[in-house]
Amino acid sequence: MKPIRIGVIGTGSISESHLNAYSRNPKSVITAICDVNEERARQVAKKYGADKTYSDYRELLADPDIDAVSICTWNNTHAPISIAALEAGKHVLVEKPLARTVEEALLIEKAVRASGKLLQVGFVRRYDPNVQMLRRFADNGEFGELYYAKASTIRRLGNPGGWFADIERSGGGPLIDIGVHVIDLCWYLMGRPKATTISANTYHKLGNRSNVKHLSFYKAADYDASKNTVEDLANAIIRFENGASLMVDVSFSLHAKQDEGSVKLYGDKGGFEIDPKISIVTEKYDTILNIQPQTDSEAGFTGDPAFVEEINHFIDCIVNGTKQISPVEDGVEIMKILCGIYESAAKGEEIRL
Ligand SMILES: NC(=O)c1ccc[n+]([C@@H]2O[C@H](COP(=O)([O-])OP(=O)(O)OC[C@H]3O[C@@H](n4cnc5c(N)ncnc54)[C@H](O)[C@@H]3O)[C@@H](O)[C@H]2O)c1
Repeated sequence: MKPIRIGVIGTGSISESHLNAYSRNPKSVITAICDVNEERARQVAKKYGADKTYSDYRELLADPDIDAVSICTWNNTHAPISIAALEAGKHVLVEKPLARTVEEALLIEKAVRASGKLLQVGFVRRYDPNVQMLRRFADNGEFGELYYAKASTIRRLGNPGGWFADIERSGGGPLIDIGVHVIDLCWYLMGRPKATTISANTYHKLGNRSNVKHLSFYKAADYDASKNTVEDLANAIIRFENGASLMVDVSFSLHAKQDEGSVKLYGDKGGFEIDPKISIVTEKYDTILNIQPQTDSEAGFTGDPAFVEEINHFIDCIVNGTKQISPVEDGVEIMKILCGIYESAAKGEEIRL
């Protein structure tokens, strides 16, 4: 069988995780690299042995030697590039968030349906081996009905600057950038219930804290601290049609003692934690049990192994028609929740979806 020929569009920080995973997949071959920064694209093409380099994604998409693309560009380009790729007959793996708005997300969904091609949303945390392990417990009813979840990703100093901090290009701040991961994780593990109401707040109090010295943090490939139009902090309570609820808070800047991540889900038969490390809680014979699953890593997000699983699944879906783990419709539902949070915060009241 001929390997799936891959084009990677956008060669900043996260593209490395895609490229490493494709290089390890025997059923795919990295064929072309594209970045508006031509030099960056050339260096990456050389490193990963890609034959072709482009600085305009439209030229890459017109190349008949490409079967599928990974889109690792700024959020404002996810919709136009995804739609053009689908129309050009390519399968698409697009980084999270699917888009900046629900309208953009729906246009992508329409293009998926019209093209008959695959689009996978890069909800990488779903693919983490530990998450898939816990999902099996949840699917088999070990926790009963999951009625409450709590998710938090707090960065005290973590505004990546550049396009991340420019609302026109990002669509929002920590909520759409890092909140998307933990909201999606809880929603996916709770069985994708329909969200009905949202009450949320966003704050612009500390700015990007680019004045702070002696601490390093994640930065966009083209870091620039001069512009910051995104929130520092967002919090929300989301209610679902089945009565379940999710409480979330996320920040780029906060006077917190340290960075912190926690993802915890509670059911009527048991509960489990993903961040900061995996564990299971249950009750048996009138005794509470805290159970430590034995896996290679106790981390809720293992990094590379999750990206490898994500890319392997993408190729598997293309080659074998395997059922998708993160299809476009899930990307659309998550956009409804994220945009609902921004809408509720802007109105200062609960909104109904
Ligand atoms: N899954 C994850 O854990 C994760 C982590 C970080 C970022 N991301 C997502 O990945 C995407 C990229 O983030 P990043 O951190 O790599 O950003 P980055 O700024 O480091 O890199 C983005 C790259 O895209 C290029 N680019 C922008 N517009 C382009 C276009 N029209 N055509 C070609 N190239 C273009 C830029 O020149 C840059 O090299 C974002 O959507 C982000 O949300 C996901």
